[in-house]
Amino acid sequence: MLASADPPLSDEQLVDSLAQQGWVVCPQFLPPEDWLPLLERAQSLHQEQLLRPAQIGSGAQRQRRSDIRSDEVLWIDQLDAATRVYWERMDRLRQQLNQALYLGLERLEAHWAAFAAGSYYRRHRDQFQGSKQRVVSCILYLNEGWTSEHGGQLRMYLENHDTPLDVLPEGGTLVAFLSEHIEHEVLAANRNRYAITGWLRRRDDLPV
Ligand code: OGA
Ligand code: MN
Repeated sequence: MLASADPPLSDEQLVDSLAQQGWVVCPQFLPPEDWLPLLERAQSLHQEQLLRPAQIGSGAQRQRRSDIRSDEVLWIDQLDAATRVYWERMDRLRQQLNQALYLGLERLEAHWAAFAAGSYYRRHRDQFQGSKQRVVSCILYLNEGWTSEHGGQLRMYLENHDTPLDVLPEGGTLVAFLSEHIEHEVLAANRNRYAITGWLRRRDDLPV
């Protein structure tokens, strides 16, 4: 695991790791002055009950399955000062991924995600069946002072690893992975857990 004293990864290192291993964990991807306002916003949207129970699947297959996931989400469709910082940072990453890896990523889609204490998301992949538009999953965590006693780890099942990799949802950390390949789950936490979950997408009209 990366120690928090390590300097943040450069975008070049981030892109290289993603290309080589299919996933990367980047502590301090955003500094506190950038992610703390996002936490405040996530908490107030959650308190105002503007997030909705998340669903699984897409199109006619969309359904609520609280046995599979019990988090609540809200798509980001307008940018305020805080979310614009996030959006522009992610857009820079998108362009760098395109330049280095020719992924043809066209846009970001992202939602607020709140896992109230006790919520979980069972083991899954992020690509919908029959659709390859989600190429890179990017999760930015927004929680202060998270320790393993709080639970809520992102557990990634990696090829060639005997044991899964657990990541604490500590504020400012970005996890990125190839949506098609990496199976993962969110373990239940004993406190509220906030994140912005984003996907870098290919064009909608490309063949799957
Ligand atoms: C998801 C997801 C992981 C996390 O929303 O698809 O897997 O750590 N989230 O919040
Ligand atoms: Mn997922």
